[in-house]
Amino acid sequence: MNHHTFAPRLLTWFEAHGRHNLPWQYHHNATANIYAVWLSEIMLQQTQVATVLKYFEKFMKKFDTVEQLAVADWNEVATLWAGLGYYARARNLHKGAKQVVDFIEKTGDFPQTTDDWQSISGVGRSTAGAIVAMGVRGRGVICDGNVKRVLTRWAGIDGDISKSATDKELWKLADTLTPIQDSGKYAQAIMDLGATICTRTRPNCTLCPLSADCTAHQEGCPTAYPVKAKKVSKPHRHSLALAICHDGQFLWIKRNNNGGIWDGLYAFPLIMTNHQSNQSPISLDQVKNAHEMTDNTQAPSLAERQVLDGLPNLTLNTPTTIKHTLTHFHWHLSPVLIDVDETSYNQINQSLKAIHADFIWQKDHENLGVPKAMEKILHQLLHDAKKDISSTHTAD
Ligand code: ADE
Repeated sequence: MNHHTFAPRLLTWFEAHGRHNLPWQYHHNATANIYAVWLSEIMLQQTQVATVLKYFEKFMKKFDTVEQLAVADWNEVATLWAGLGYYARARNLHKGAKQVVDFIEKTGDFPQTTDDWQSISGVGRSTAGAIVAMGVRGRGVICDGNVKRVLTRWAGIDGDISKSATDKELWKLADTLTPIQDSGKYAQAIMDLGATICTRTRPNCTLCPLSADCTAHQEGCPTAYPVKAKKVSKPHRHSLALAICHDGQFLWIKRNNNGGIWDGLYAFPLIMTNHQSNQSPISLDQVKNAHEMTDNTQAPSLAERQVLDGLPNLTLNTPTTIKHTLTHFHWHLSPVLIDVDETSYNQINQSLKAIHADFIWQKDHENLGVPKAMEKILHQLLHDAKKDISSTHTAD
């Protein structure tokens, strides 16, 4: 393996074949917009470039400086983020903007070092390296998932990458290979190589500038790297999503669960059930009773309880279930459409107001920060409603 030619080969490849027109790239400019680089790096954590593009543009249009983001209302941030997933990133971004503004007020400029960037919410070691390299234009080292894949293959590192000893080894190698000058271009180049050539399942070694001395290529099985301990399989959870409707408007409740799932976003009341709904009708009383048995993490919130108590006993039909996969579990959400009369509507309003819940009746999720799963549910309900109407017509 030739460590000295690693960066030059990569940079030559990047000039000819890398991505050069992404809206957060500044390597062709004399200076960079550090705010834009930070924002893009947060969005690009766990999300692909193609998805990030439109969110990045929306954000930059709405909040074109860190100061604007720092004073923005959380609801506005959540609404713009809706659909991008991993919502903790949006909360950290908003909190981080306030921290960055404080830093600027104290020192006169954005954080300049990886240590200072790592003190900002949501910025880990690799993101800090990327911001310093591509935004600040100092020397920054990155070692994210893409880079780890390239390096384990090239150097034949076969330790489990979830182990700290392997992580340490990879960071050391990443540091050795990162040039002093132009570490920003190098960072972009190695990420591009990981995203387009040295891909997880189908690496294209014939086009790779590193294949001549790549250990995994020489061994003939590049996908054998990186080595990762087998993941334990995720548990499954089942819930009813109560689309409570009055006068054509749905009840949306802002979740308030201490940094839990979808905290700070609007959603339909979600009621965990012990088992799959199986598409067979279930009575609301059965649902209420089932709760007494569930553990705390799955129990309904106070607001959800209030809503349940405001509903008469009904038979609930759950014709479809939507599977939504989160970091720690698969969530099977069965939408139930419940039309409520004036009495239940008033009772629900009264009991939600009594506990100071944040809620709104609205026909769709416009201007509300809602998780992607709620969009899917709403879409499904509208689709089912259309089906009902057409089947009524055919029966006529
Ligand atoms: N993933 C993380 N940061 C990235 C960037 N700047 N460009 C492309 N992919 C990335």
